[in-house]
Amino acid sequence: MSDVRINPSILSADFVNMQADLDRIAGADFVHVDVMDNHFVPNLTFGPQMVERIQATSPVPLDVHLMITDADRWAPGYAELGAASVTFHLEATDEPVALARRLRQIGARAGVAVKPGTPAGLLYEVMDEFDQILVMTVEPGFGGQSFMPDMMPKLSGLAAEARRRGSAVWLQVDGGISADTIEQAAAAGADTFVAGSAVFGAADPDAAIAGLRTAAAGHSHS
Ligand code: DX5
Ligand code: ZN
Repeated sequence: MSDVRINPSILSADFVNMQADLDRIAGADFVHVDVMDNHFVPNLTFGPQMVERIQATSPVPLDVHLMITDADRWAPGYAELGAASVTFHLEATDEPVALARRLRQIGARAGVAVKPGTPAGLLYEVMDEFDQILVMTVEPGFGGQSFMPDMMPKLSGLAAEARRRGSAVWLQVDGGISADTIEQAAAAGADTFVAGSAVFGAADPDAAIAGLRTAAAGHSHS
């Protein structure tokens, strides 16, 4: 049984019918919550107050993806409100290890994300400090963009290093994941998949989740 996680992104959900859309993804592993501040990325979504309500409403745990500057200041609050997983961007802090330790201490899984232009080799030495590493497969900011296959070497490099170290870190991909692209991401070593438009754009989101899960499981290494 391979270990595949499918995390729908509510960036593609109906923001004024969030509860109804959350009920449509009960078969997901986590709900992926994209927090954007209009500084780190040129788009704005929601902050802690909204995320707290999503937390209270969601049938599955929260996987919070912070696309915000000053992660040190804001990330712990998302762990405190009960998010199961909090991922900040490597580009948004000078102290990634200290911040990850703080998140774990509060009780969340600690995640770190890298934009397409940021190498991941910086994370090899400190891999054990994180529960999840997110390789962005689009420039962060918007849903519905095209998957970047040239990120696959970054992913397979991380996967090889994780194997070498016997690390239990989850390798997540986010951006342009669909039935057409998930297999190559799984083959490169991803085990945790964010999908926005491919899930919420489908007539039956739970069936889309199941389809993605099957496709990924057939190509995963785990
Ligand atoms: C983009 C966000 C993604 C986005 C993915 O910055 O981090 O989570 O919702 O959307 P799709 O799956 O449509 O590319
Ligand atoms: Zn995201």
